[in-house]
Amino acid sequence: MWPKYWPECYNIIMAKQDELIQLKSEAEEDKNLPLRQGATQIVFGDGNPESEFFFLGEAPGFFEDQKGVPFVGKAGQLLNETLKEIGIERGKIWISNVVYFRPSENRDPTPEEIAAFRPYVDRQIEIIDPQVIVTLGRFSMAKFLPGAKISQVHGKPKWIMTAGQRRVLVPMYHPAAALRGTGIMNEFKNDFQNIPRVLRKIEREAEESEQPNQINRQISLF
Ligand code: URA
Repeated sequence: MWPKYWPECYNIIMAKQDELIQLKSEAEEDKNLPLRQGATQIVFGDGNPESEFFFLGEAPGFFEDQKGVPFVGKAGQLLNETLKEIGIERGKIWISNVVYFRPSENRDPTPEEIAAFRPYVDRQIEIIDPQVIVTLGRFSMAKFLPGAKISQVHGKPKWIMTAGQRRVLVPMYHPAAALRGTGIMNEFKNDFQNIPRVLRKIEREAEESEQPNQINRQISLF
């Protein structure tokens, strides 16, 4: 018997978690998905399914492949540290990648490989239903902004329509790129420092807007 004070949101949370578990096992069983042969296990996604923030990276690396969790290697540590600097605990976001199996030798995923995982990535976005999608690196950016140059769009939020909703897209450099060069590191850190200000601006715009697609849920992480 559930206690009387069981949270009202219990059903919603479980529904999302159930849907994610189901989607993960569909992906695990999908023989058409590439990259599986060289991988230890699927790296599907991690974090709080109720989050308004969906972070989307590129592909699992060595440590992610070992643990089955995205962004647990050096790039993940930098990401966690940078999130903490702006007051966001890693456990409060949802995070995944555009492909769920590690490409051998950490090579870039091909367009065909990314396309094969797309239905799963889209469905994950639908289930999480976030207000804000933060892309990490050019592969996940290209999903929403094909043809854009990351050097020109990084840190600049945009309204996009995706998974049937108007959402805010924040394209960011990949933390691994930041680890490779001081210039990118500074831009990566600056872009993250700007997130709270950007979100406040978006909330204000949404409050003032009469549009039906306006953001009407609180973005609350800070
Ligand atoms: N880089 C990514 O893009 N994703 C991970 O999960 C780890 C490193």
